[in-house]
Amino acid sequence: MQLHGKTIVITGAAQGLGRAMAETLAGQGANLALVDVDEGGLRETAELCAKSGGRSRGYAADVTNEQEVEALFKRVHDDFGGIDALVNNAGITRDGLLVKARNGKVETTLSLEAFRNVITVDLTGVFLCGREAAVWMIEGGKPGVIVNISSISRAGNLGQTNYSAAKAGVAAMTVVWAKELASHGIRVAAIAPGFCDTRLVAAIPTTVRDRIVSAIPLRRLARPDEIAQAALFVLQNDYLNGRVLDIDGGLRL
Ligand SMILES: NC(=O)c1ccc[n+]([C@@H]2O[C@H](COP(=O)([O-])OP(=O)(O)OC[C@H]3O[C@@H](n4cnc5c(N)ncnc54)[C@H](O)[C@@H]3O)[C@@H](O)[C@H]2O)c1
Repeated sequence: MQLHGKTIVITGAAQGLGRAMAETLAGQGANLALVDVDEGGLRETAELCAKSGGRSRGYAADVTNEQEVEALFKRVHDDFGGIDALVNNAGITRDGLLVKARNGKVETTLSLEAFRNVITVDLTGVFLCGREAAVWMIEGGKPGVIVNISSISRAGNLGQTNYSAAKAGVAAMTVVWAKELASHGIRVAAIAPGFCDTRLVAAIPTTVRDRIVSAIPLRRLARPDEIAQAALFVLQNDYLNGRVLDIDGGLRL
């Protein structure tokens, strides 16, 4: 897909990878619908997009709320006159061991709330936004692209029962949607970043973070703009479909 003048919805655009992808896509002359629960962050991202030469508009919406997501995509469609692509990026972590025990004594367990919160944002949110994007793309009768953000944690990462399950689900939905939507002219692919230099990773304790970095063959975290380059590639390459692209510095979990 050639991106100049195309309308791209980016969820989780108020910071981190979503913001970096917005700046990169703005530089291609795309129209951006920036979605997040953080309105202040959205305003900052919109300013950065304007500097990169793109037109953008912020939308405060919670990707886990079906009514809000339905209304969001209708508004974007009305504001921009169509929807060409979605970057399904909003996500959270609530890490913890399934059961933390010492000397045969259980100290803590992963709460149902932490499990559900991550599944609701990282899996259900991706489902809702993907479904609504597909509806408007099909009704619009033009080719479309959906880029889902999975993670290398989809392979199963210690301390991430909830997140690994959600991101494996995102990878699976990517394959299903690629098969179901190709006949409507919609491509679907995913990016699985390794550990990136964003606030999500800054929340990991320093000692654990240092251990992670030493296990990455390239010995550093990914810069957000390196993940944004991958999103650009997925959007532009018209033969990429149903695959998950790992951008991980060589780290395998
Ligand atoms: N940072 C990494 O190392 C890394 C690695 C692999 C995958 N990822 C994935 O990349 C994506 C972006 O990660 P990031 O590092 O930029 O995270 P981040 O925490 O910096 O940004 C996530 C954004 O999503 C928004 N968000 C959260 N819940 C939302 C909701 N219910 N509705 C709307 N917006 C919501 C937040 O407000 C925030 O702006 C996530 O899906 C994450 O799982 C990140």
